Amino acid sequence: MRSPGTVLITGASSGIGEALALHYAARGAALALTGRDRPRLDAVAQACRARGAEVLAEAADATDAPAMERFIAEAERFRPLELVIANAGISAGSGFAGESPEQARRIFAVNLDGVLNSVLPALPHLRARRRGQIALMSSLASFRGFPGAPAYCASKAAVRVWGEGLRPLLAAEGIGVSVICPGFVTSRMTEANAFPMPFLMDSGRAARIIAEGLAANRARIAFPLPMRLSAWMLAALPPGLTDPAMGRLPKKRAMGS
Ligand SMILES: NC(=O)c1ccc[n+]([C@@H]2O[C@H](COP(=O)([O-])OP(=O)(O)OC[C@H]3O[C@@H](n4cnc5c(N)ncnc54)[C@H](OP(=O)(O)O)[C@@H]3O)[C@@H](O)[C@H]2O)c1
Repeated sequence: MRSPGTVLITGASSGIGEALALHYAARGAALALTGRDRPRLDAVAQACRARGAEVLAEAADATDAPAMERFIAEAERFRPLELVIANAGISAGSGFAGESPEQARRIFAVNLDGVLNSVLPALPHLRARRRGQIALMSSLASFRGFPGAPAYCASKAAVRVWGEGLRPLLAAEGIGVSVICPGFVTSRMTEANAFPMPFLMDSGRAARIIAEGLAANRARIAFPLPMRLSAWMLAALPPGLTDPAMGRLPKKRAMGS
């Protein structure tokens, strides 16, 4: 499996982003890492350096477009980017009262604007070189709106469909686009879930599956299989049939973002 030489990862300060950083660090990639929490980001950068990687790490909020533009320009000066993984995301628990307007807006801002702010400034560089790869972090939750997380599901659906549209467009320019759709993966995000999470996967294993899918330039990297089949079935059935079951699903505990 060919590993990319330089990888930019947003949301690298914990969870899946951290696991991806450690994975690529161990395979000799140079890393441009970002997240908001400086101490956690620095700890990940140190762990990657300990595995032999050269690392540029800058704290930035993905919703801050000028800050993300500056970071991507700096990353390009550090090393020309080969793989950009737009991974940063949030899910605010809605409790039983439904998502507050603030939560819904913040979820769209981070999960959607944050992805645009990570990909759009990198694209001209990849286009100029006519090579490179973009990975967009969606979710299996993107295939059906769940009552516990409507804005989260909708933001992930938008990211997935955007990536699906970009892929053939950019393939003509030699650039790969993959959409990542995980089921439940251990992370700070899923730590907040007080309900059973079927087929919960360790973040290191998820990172290996994602990296394999990216190395094969797969359009959609969706896992694990049983959750993928459930998502496919939920999307295929008429909403009228699945709504009663949806209403009985457990909701994420209310929390801030
Ligand atoms: N875990 C799952 O089961 C699962 C399933 C499907 C998809 N996903 C997706 O995977 C991605 C990573 O989530 P995770 O599960 O690894 O959760 P996590 O441990 O909470 O990691 C989220 C990452 O996103 C960063 N982030 C959040 N808001 C940000 C902002 N405004 N600006 C910059 N960075 C921000 C966080 O950085 P700071 O902490 O430094 O702010 C952190 O590094 C998300 O897009 C999530 O939706 C997760």
